[in-house]
Amino acid sequence: MTQARLTRPRMYHRTKSGRIYVGDSLDVLRTRVKDKSVNLIMTSPPFGLVRKKEYGNPPAEEYLDWFRPFAKEFRRVLDDQGSLVIDIGGSWIPGQPTRSLYHFKLLIMLCEEFGFHLAQEFYWWNPSKLPTPAEWVNIRRVRVKDAVNCVWWLSPSPWPRSDNRRVLQPYSQSMKDLLENGYKSMKRPSGHEISTKFDRDNGASIPPNLIALANTESNSSYLRYCKEQGIEPHPARFPADLPEMFIRMLTDVGDFVLDPFAGSCVTGEVSHRLNRKWLCAELVEDYVRGAVGRFPTAGKGGTQNGRTYQEGKNQYQIFRPGALWNGFDYEPLQKDGGRKRRV
Ligand SMILES: C[S@@+](CC[C@H](N)C(=O)[O-])C[C@H]1O[C@@H](n2cnc3c(N)ncnc32)[C@H](O)[C@@H]1O
Repeated sequence: MTQARLTRPRMYHRTKSGRIYVGDSLDVLRTRVKDKSVNLIMTSPPFGLVRKKEYGNPPAEEYLDWFRPFAKEFRRVLDDQGSLVIDIGGSWIPGQPTRSLYHFKLLIMLCEEFGFHLAQEFYWWNPSKLPTPAEWVNIRRVRVKDAVNCVWWLSPSPWPRSDNRRVLQPYSQSMKDLLENGYKSMKRPSGHEISTKFDRDNGASIPPNLIALANTESNSSYLRYCKEQGIEPHPARFPADLPEMFIRMLTDVGDFVLDPFAGSCVTGEVSHRLNRKWLCAELVEDYVRGAVGRFPTAGKGGTQNGRTYQEGKNQYQIFRPGALWNGFDYEPLQKDGGRKRRV
């Protein structure tokens, strides 16, 4: 596959609400994005992998230096109450079964050097991840499979605009049983007293910061389009439900979402479907050629409702984030990020 690297950004595709640029996103940010104009940066940068991936990941030790100019631009373009959400995988130190700290260092750098606040850390568990690295996991059996990415949710403000009511999940079976049979107030092992107010049926539950999503897309319109056009699909796509959770929770219709490391433009596709304005920038033209295939069909539903999930009585159930989202119009996000208590 040819991997054309351009020095000047050029607009590659446009829809009524968004644009895809091919080129270095630093140039795109510097020349195309105004100060404080972005409500959400939703992205998955190249990870600091020890073995370089085909699109040229910087090695872990150079990662912070590589990231600094992007961090400066992210700070400039983000609205004061906007959010920066970074999906980032960990990596192993070469030759030994221990982990690099680069993604934690990135988080600390963003907060301490660039003045971001950590609104919350999330963990994306991909149950379908293969067991790697083989040497430590399959052969010597001294480590378990690494199946979790960190997702850092940051903001220039301690009060980013946000509303968790947009990403509710169905109740677990045990909660349904509790609602049906009532609850005897008692102390939890944690010492918390659970009072009877917990047996009120609010219709749905608030999701935790563990996001369970298998990354097993095998028959999407994107993949079909790539096949028809003879384009190799992007090798490190995230599932659409991941950006969807944050776009729903952190932006209103009409807000502006940016993905500076866009790959196959999943963020653009979800933003398009949810009627947000969006901009995607990607260095490698072949990835963008495939990404264009997302747009004729976007808006026709895609990853909406209708998923089935395993009902296990004694098992903790993990729903995909926002398993209940249903296209209702919600009230706009609070301008003060929740500083003032709602009555
Ligand atoms: C982890 S992938 C993103 C995948 C994407 N989230 C998706 O689901 O398709 C990171 C992408 O960043 C791109 N990239 C790396 N450096 C870049 C830069 N300076 N400007 C724009 N894109 C860049 C890589 O080519 C790669 O496609």
